[in-house]
Amino acid sequence: MRRNIALIPAAGVGERFGAGKPKQYVEIAGKTVLQHTLAIFLNCAVIDKVAVVLSPDDAVFQTGMHDKLHVLKVGGQTRAESVRNGLAALLQAGLAAETDNILVHDAARCCLPQEALMRLIETAGGCEAGGILAVPVADTLKRAEGKAIGATVPRSGLWQAQTPQLFRAGLLYKALAVPDLGAVTDEASAVEMLGVHPLLVLGDTRNLKLTLPQDEYIVRLLLQQAD
Ligand code: CTP
Ligand code: MG
Repeated sequence: MRRNIALIPAAGVGERFGAGKPKQYVEIAGKTVLQHTLAIFLNCAVIDKVAVVLSPDDAVFQTGMHDKLHVLKVGGQTRAESVRNGLAALLQAGLAAETDNILVHDAARCCLPQEALMRLIETAGGCEAGGILAVPVADTLKRAEGKAIGATVPRSGLWQAQTPQLFRAGLLYKALAVPDLGAVTDEASAVEMLGVHPLLVLGDTRNLKLTLPQDEYIVRLLLQQAD
């Protein structure tokens, strides 16, 4: 039986958010950002395990006892490194098999609606190529030429990638086994480099990533509504 295993990279420093501590530990609507994110996956009946990747020197995380939760203190210098180290740790410990589905999800996307998560698993969970949540680009796109508009870029067919990104553990491990992770902006981009074409599954604009200080306002409203 193929399992669905969430892998949550949470080893970043949150430089752009600038809270004086990593943004995953900022408290919004009564819980930390990371607690909100973990709860989405821990409360999802079709998620079998949740693995969180922390920085090796993380002294903040408090494990609440949960039989689905695994803490991996193997974070790296970049997000891609944290994901690769976390996946390697899962496979080495026998916590994941190559045929299991791994759902990589940013700790900072703490407003992921359950129905979007279910849609990804139902649509891409049985697909060899995997799939990601994404939303069609809504705004008109401009290519800059210096400080002015050089051209308007047709937006038809363009999607914005979100997470979770779901792949078979074996495929993802192979995709991330490259000497230079610099070009890997998300898991799908690594998988695409193998010539594989993951599915685009409709995400949700509420699944935003807490990145800048001004994102906190909307994230708070969304989290308050979800309670
Ligand atoms: N992440 C990680 N390991 C890193 C860098 C990032 O696990 N070395 C995680 C972050 O904790 C976050 C997710 O990847 O949950 C998305 O990254 P991002 O939003 O860029 O977070 P930060 O890197 O922490 O923020 P910034 O780039 O502003 O410093
Ligand atoms: Mg970052």
